[in-house]
Amino acid sequence: MNILLLGSGGREHAFAWKISQSKRCEKLFIAPGNAGTLQCGTNVNLNLLDFVAVRNFVLEKKIDMVIVGPEEPLVKGIHDFFLADEQLRNIPVIGPEKDGAQLEGSKDFSKQFMSRHRIPTARYQTFTAETLQEGFNFLEQLNPPYVLKADGLAAGKGVVIPNTLDDAKNELKEMLTDAKFGAASSKVVIEEFLKGIELSVFVLTDGDSYKILPEAKDYKRIGDQDTGPNTGGMGAVSPVPFAGKEFMQKVEERIIIPTIEGLKKENILYKGFIFIGLMNVNGEPYVIEYNVRMGDPETEAVIPRIESDLVELFEAVSKGTLAEKELVISKQSVVTVMLVSGGYPGDYEKGKVISGLGDVKESFVFHAGTSMDEKEVIKTSGGRVLAVSSFGKNMEEAAALSYRSVSKIAFENMYFRKDISLDLQTKSQVIK
Ligand code: AMP
Ligand code: GLY
Repeated sequence: MNILLLGSGGREHAFAWKISQSKRCEKLFIAPGNAGTLQCGTNVNLNLLDFVAVRNFVLEKKIDMVIVGPEEPLVKGIHDFFLADEQLRNIPVIGPEKDGAQLEGSKDFSKQFMSRHRIPTARYQTFTAETLQEGFNFLEQLNPPYVLKADGLAAGKGVVIPNTLDDAKNELKEMLTDAKFGAASSKVVIEEFLKGIELSVFVLTDGDSYKILPEAKDYKRIGDQDTGPNTGGMGAVSPVPFAGKEFMQKVEERIIIPTIEGLKKENILYKGFIFIGLMNVNGEPYVIEYNVRMGDPETEAVIPRIESDLVELFEAVSKGTLAEKELVISKQSVVTVMLVSGGYPGDYEKGKVISGLGDVKESFVFHAGTSMDEKEVIKTSGGRVLAVSSFGKNMEEAAALSYRSVSKIAFENMYFRKDISLDLQTKSQVIK
């Protein structure tokens, strides 16, 4: 099969690495890809939101399957575009259609969906500029901190958690009447703050049956001990020690099954990944958000643990035969450390030469923001630059290997968190 993978981050390099190992894959194209995906296939300079350009490429290269990495093309309807085109209709797209993508594309839709299907989540209400005063009243009923979410996609920045009632009211006003996040904040979901520990659960579904992929925990803040601003993710671990059998059974019964059944009841044919952001509140799972794609950097910790052929699983997703497939998962732990450009998540410089990549032998280095110049020199081209992932028989061993590999890599102003997995290492000892 000829496969086209859309995206350019660490998630896509991890996918490309795995897909390129499949005996079902003949040619792999990655659009637009990065310097890492070049090792797995051919990069193509396409704008993912230019569906006509994607169409022309798919027809020209006789692509047999399209895998969509990020959410934006899905929310904007790339899968629907394929289904509406006579020549593309039979080419499977991994990723939901526009209706299913609303689970991520509209926070209000996803909260209503959870409430229709009795899926545990924080209490909430949705407001618009016309109902600003009611929003203030609702905030007054809640305890701090307050959680305000722009309804639409806001490049990962649409969630604000003010600590005081005054700040929350100001924030609500800015979002609704001053369009702080543009059209994305023309509706705002206000919800109760859930206190607990977060994890990411991933499901692959063909719209009927599903497989639960390895779960992961992401480290979102820039600084050690979860300090400083939020980022796209500074590291990840899989498996997650506090997501034991009993907890995961609750997740499956209370969240995964009602989600899949809910989609079916609403006639939403969903083929792709569902990423469920969960809060473990004293051992009880609550949904914080749905995403309609895999997480980044979670994918860089999850994909190495999948032993099954991913392309065969994708084929089963497209044919609706996922129930017949077995998902084999490695028992080993993976710890992923993200190397970022100094200054990130604020302003940072690009174009720094990366050295030492060839010296890493004990880890996978998934590229996130890298590019290769005409002289084949690999340089930084984004905030998150490289994801270094290692296997270990436990998290301690995996983390030690990742940090040893990190010490071999360098670029000017490179920064990384030194504590990825440390919080869970002590917890895992307590649990065991
Ligand atoms: P984002 O990944 O930008 O959607 O950020 C959402 C983050 O906000 C989550 O990862 C949580 O850390 C936090 N968050 C969202 N909703 C809640 C909630 N109801 N209670 C506590 N934290 C929340
Ligand atoms: N790591 C969180 C995300 O991909 O949204």
